[in-house]
Amino acid sequence: MPNIGSLEASLKRSDEIKADLEKNPSHYSMLTGDRPTGRLHLGHYFGTIRERVHLQNLGVTTRILIADYQVITDRDTTANIQDNVYNMVMDYLACGIDPDRTPIYVHSAVPACNQLMLPFLSLVTEAELQRNPTVKAEMEASGHALTGLLLTYPIHQACDILFCKGNVVPVGKDQLPHIEITRTVARRFNERYGQVFPEPDALISEAVEVPGLDGRKMSKSYGNAISISMTPEQTAKLIKKSPTDSERTITFDKQNRPGVSALLTTSALCTGRTEVEIADEIGDAGSGALKKYVTDAVNDYLAPIRERRHRYEQDLDYVKDVLHEGNRKMNEIANRTLDEVRVAMGMVY
Ligand code: TRP
Repeated sequence: MPNIGSLEASLKRSDEIKADLEKNPSHYSMLTGDRPTGRLHLGHYFGTIRERVHLQNLGVTTRILIADYQVITDRDTTANIQDNVYNMVMDYLACGIDPDRTPIYVHSAVPACNQLMLPFLSLVTEAELQRNPTVKAEMEASGHALTGLLLTYPIHQACDILFCKGNVVPVGKDQLPHIEITRTVARRFNERYGQVFPEPDALISEAVEVPGLDGRKMSKSYGNAISISMTPEQTAKLIKKSPTDSERTITFDKQNRPGVSALLTTSALCTGRTEVEIADEIGDAGSGALKKYVTDAVNDYLAPIRERRHRYEQDLDYVKDVLHEGNRKMNEIANRTLDEVRVAMGMVY
């Protein structure tokens, strides 16, 4: 995170835009994306996917990127990438993304987006790249030396956002440094070569941080995540083996009872009730009763989403068509923007 002052400023700006979006959806163009490293889970769903569907349905211009080149920023393999990309499309569609209104596409299929990386890299210094706290954290977590791609991917992310002239980017707080550098790149490009790009703002996801079943952040790598694509039985099994404690009476206390509290938050999100209300209702029926309640809440909530997902699982050709059409539309936009860039830079021959 940059610093507290600018975090506050970003949050304030994000809230102002959220209010204006409801009134003037046609003023906004959203671009956001995910790395195809696994299945989407409830953390993604309540953290951002629900918000994207809402923006789409309001009439905002919306686009979703499956960021395949970002997979190799901090790992050495592209194993399973095709399967992950197709499954990510299925997850989006099942959650309510409508491909007629929201193109879904991949980095590697849009060369003109990637080409913007060259002029954009000339606009930033090595020191600016080195200072990015998210990049530093990712490098430490990867346990590898800093690769050229990891160091420069925030500029590649600026290419993602700017080629389609996105002006709002729904992201988590960890992505704010990338939005900041995107604004810098846009501003410097415009100063040097003339006005081409907007300076985008982050739409910071609501405070809902969905805990994993053990109270830590929900993440596939911790084994504490309920994926949208799981069966009800797999969901029940995962919840059953989630850690609780020996206190019989159920109370909501994140600090001292992370496991029990995570189960309460999960059921609150799925039922629209509050954690305390659910805790009071279960009372001293214990964690077995709580687990049964959460399992039903999650499985009921996901039932229609999973039912739609099964239909896409049976129709991989359709899923591929969605992606091809998204790639086609986004190539048109990217080629147009790259032409503008060539004109602005005087590189027309
Ligand atoms: N870096 C984002 C993540 O890890 C994914 C991403 C790639 C993205 N390009 C983007 C997000 C453009 C917003 C806008 O989640």
